[in-house]
Amino acid sequence: MTKDTPVIEIRNLHKAYGALEVIKGVDITAHRGDVVSLIGSSGSGKSTILRCANLLEDSQQGDILFKGEPVKWAGQGLDRHPADFNQVLRIRTNLSMVFQQFNLWAHMTILQNVMEAPVTVLGRDRAEVEQAARAYLDKVGISDKCDAYPAQLSGGQQQRAAIARALCMEPEALLFDEPTSALDPELEQEVVRVIKDLASEGRTMMIVTHDMKMAADVSDHVVFLHQGLIEEEGAPDILFKAPKSERLRQFLNSTMAA
Ligand SMILES: Nc1ncnc2c1ncn2[C@@H]1O[C@H](COP(=O)(O)OP(=O)(O)OP(=O)(O)O)[C@@H](O)[C@H]1O
Ligand SMILES: [Mg+2]
Repeated sequence: MTKDTPVIEIRNLHKAYGALEVIKGVDITAHRGDVVSLIGSSGSGKSTILRCANLLEDSQQGDILFKGEPVKWAGQGLDRHPADFNQVLRIRTNLSMVFQQFNLWAHMTILQNVMEAPVTVLGRDRAEVEQAARAYLDKVGISDKCDAYPAQLSGGQQQRAAIARALCMEPEALLFDEPTSALDPELEQEVVRVIKDLASEGRTMMIVTHDMKMAADVSDHVVFLHQGLIEEEGAPDILFKAPKSERLRQFLNSTMAA
């Protein structure tokens, strides 16, 4: 891998659910330190692309490369699936996902939540992981919540715990699927601040979001999806200020008005 090898490269991705084709040939590249945002109306395929990228979903055509290494496939068409389970595990643990609904384990404390995967999946030393976990919880501003349970935290705090948990895997990239859309506006800002910090540290991230202001602030590249295809893409200051396609113009008008 050279310095210019992308961390994530998706080429000509096609994905169907049975007869319903939802991704129809999409290319997305994230180099080290890039923040790529995916925007588009509901059902346009944003979540599906993230889930395909970290191999939570199979896809039928196209290549997915992680640091230049192509995913190895077995089977064809609707039967296509990754051929090498160890490769899947390696890629998935390097692309940590943060979901809209946090997905914290209710029966574990916040510290235990953050420590769980590095210890059990990666087999790292427990004492070292604990030290890292405390540092990440401090970084996202909730070091006082180590011993609390998820239900005792606000939504914004829970989402920041989920981000600390993703960071504690020491992944190559972070994938966010609507990280702020389950939150009240004031709690949303706590999470946006953390994401902005991560962007300014040069983390590689792919972010699905309805928050156009955050997308404009943090992204190096914005991809506008429409019905499973890229309708328009570009740098945020161009894409948001001078959209070329009528669809993107309409989409921006409707989301800004909301
Ligand atoms: N498990 C599934 N089975 C069948 N169809 C699905 C499944 N998941 C998603 N779809 C369909 O795939 C298309 C893309 O869905 P996706 O969730 O990627 O959209 P999205 O852009 O993330 O939308 P939203 O903004 O509402 O989250 C939609 O038409 C959706 O109905
Ligand atoms: Mg979605």
